Amino acid sequence: MSKITNYNEVSKSYDTTRGATDAFVVKSMMENFTGKTVKEMDIIDIGCGTGNYADYFLQFEPRSLTLMDASEGMLAKAKAKLPSDHSKTRLSFKKVVLPDMPYEDNLFDAAMINMVLHHLEENPDGKSFPCLSKTLKEVYRILKPGGVLTITCLTPETLEAIWYSHLVPENTQRWMKRLASHRQIKTYLEESGLSLKSAFTTLMPSHVPELRNPEDVISESYRKNLSFWGTCTKSENEDMIQNVTRMKNEGTLQEFYETHNKTDAFGILEILAARKEMK
Ligand SMILES: C[S@@+](CC[C@H](N)C(=O)[O-])C[C@H]1O[C@@H](n2cnc3c(N)ncnc32)[C@H](O)[C@@H]1O
Repeated sequence: MSKITNYNEVSKSYDTTRGATDAFVVKSMMENFTGKTVKEMDIIDIGCGTGNYADYFLQFEPRSLTLMDASEGMLAKAKAKLPSDHSKTRLSFKKVVLPDMPYEDNLFDAAMINMVLHHLEENPDGKSFPCLSKTLKEVYRILKPGGVLTITCLTPETLEAIWYSHLVPENTQRWMKRLASHRQIKTYLEESGLSLKSAFTTLMPSHVPELRNPEDVISESYRKNLSFWGTCTKSENEDMIQNVTRMKNEGTLQEFYETHNKTDAFGILEILAARKEMK
């Protein structure tokens, strides 16, 4: 269960701004590192949300698609989106709170976990992520030998590259403690038994609502489907709105945006693939 976002509430509007970011990359990583086509796979979507990735994968007719999430609201949206009578793919849905993984050993060819890691836990010391560690060990257990896990996530580096993280520095510091770095994820993968095969950052910003103008951050509807803003205090939000309005009136907002926007160099998201090697 996310401690920072009420997903039963967010489920009502999630799909207005969010989609399956880079799903085609996730698919090609799965196929490349398993040596199978999606059609030959049993796939689990961990923290499936409203089923946007599952919806993308369904067109390739995997043998089965297993969707799990902690939020009933998000699962209900996923169920409504995906056809109940898909003849080629076995679909199943389950409410599960990570790190629980109530599935048998060696069941799946591929597992994906997209934009979920930062919801798993809060680490005041920012040094260890026990829920992430347990989750990866469970993923190892439920993957078949030769199976692949893909992860799409924010890292401290990608958060810092987003210009608006500089508008609310206290909130950004809070988030830095929620985000495992690339090095930490790599270590947890190794400890779980999974071997990291590929990692890169992507520039695709489709998990962020389209920014037509930096002053859009003033609008609540722009911010509401981004968990980042949900952790701001009322006074941090008020100060941010005041500052952005002031910069807009002084004509310095665009310059602030351009100075802090580094996503073209550092990416928006990290995408990793790791394999359970054949013994
Ligand atoms: C940002 S959404 C991502 C949804 C989907 N993977 C996507 O990319 O569109 C995060 C999802 O993680 C789920 N989640 C958060 N904490 C969880 C936990 N401990 N166990 C299972 N799901 C969790 C939330 O309910 C939410 O659906």
